[in-house]
Amino acid sequence: MLFLLIESTCDETAAAVVTDQLEVLGSVVASQDELHAKYQGVVPEIAARAHVERILPVIDETLKKSGKQLSEIEAIAVANQPGLAGSLLVGVVAAKTLAMVLDIPLIGINHLQAHIYACRIAAEKEVFPCVGLVVSGGHTSLYSCKTALDFELLGGTIDDAAGEAFDKVAKMIGLPFPGGVAVAKLADQGDPTAFNFPRSFIKDADRLQFSFSGLKTAVRYKIAGPGKPLPEELEMSDEEIRNLCASFQEAVVDCLVAKSIQAIRKTGLQRLCVGGGVAANRRLRARLAEAAEKHSFELVIAPLSLCTDNAVMGAIAIEKMKAGQVDDLHLEIVPGLVRQ
Ligand code: KG4
Ligand code: ZN
Repeated sequence: MLFLLIESTCDETAAAVVTDQLEVLGSVVASQDELHAKYQGVVPEIAARAHVERILPVIDETLKKSGKQLSEIEAIAVANQPGLAGSLLVGVVAAKTLAMVLDIPLIGINHLQAHIYACRIAAEKEVFPCVGLVVSGGHTSLYSCKTALDFELLGGTIDDAAGEAFDKVAKMIGLPFPGGVAVAKLADQGDPTAFNFPRSFIKDADRLQFSFSGLKTAVRYKIAGPGKPLPEELEMSDEEIRNLCASFQEAVVDCLVAKSIQAIRKTGLQRLCVGGGVAANRRLRARLAEAAEKHSFELVIAPLSLCTDNAVMGAIAIEKMKAGQVDDLHLEIVPGLVRQ
């Protein structure tokens, strides 16, 4: 059976064609980074308009890459939650229209479950039950994932998401949006012990929550001092900036690793699956691998190509189809859960 998958929850317009055997025939991701760069963040209205312009060309290109005709598609799936309302609407309207015209099943999918399902695709074997860590620009959450479709929230961030913190630190030191990758690159050449930044709740095993806003403020104070505006030109040497990035990254990674271990202990589950844009971070991947070895749990991290937003991870629709969880043309967008 052939599935067309559509993703437009934030600022990537993406489509993929996959078989029900999880074989990826074609995948296209159109990034909008350059449109949002001058605003140093995603502007919802600009994102929605760009999705409108790109969605049909992206679907066309995906079909071409797959060597398939639209008429051969047998089911359509679209991420309808959570995300930016205008962005979600574009994908959902496109999916509904195609499902109606082709008279084929329509399946709405949860973008956060899809981020974890990226691990299932990469592992090429069952990965559930597991603890799921979604760590992206909009979300930093731990779940007890009983099946691909049955998630219970263990805890999440009470303020910024980890990726958002990376992007904000990037902005403070004048790096272009989205700065996560650039901060990580500088961090890899710096000393992670140079600055002692806060690690919220790290020792409190009963509290499976994250907070990165104090860390962000601590970084800001190192750059400008309390109560002072950020300088036009940084008054730090290149080495100090690298050390700042490394110390910031280490604080984020320490929290993510500690809370993942605590979640494994609390649930008694023996596998950790990690997805989302920040899961591409090299230091996080290395530290999670060390933790898995030390604490004897299995670790599955999404491959780099499936960490940041993409449509392939929407193959979770295959599980929904098998479970009889098919939607109809009443499918609605559910933008909520912004901080979950
Ligand atoms: O999953 P994603 O594409 O979008 C959301 O669903 O939010 O994640 C994007 C986020 C951005 O904040 C970006 O800066 C961050 O992931 N990111 C990274 C790295 N690569 C992407 N953060 C740290 N290190 C990286 N290597
Ligand atoms: Zn995402």
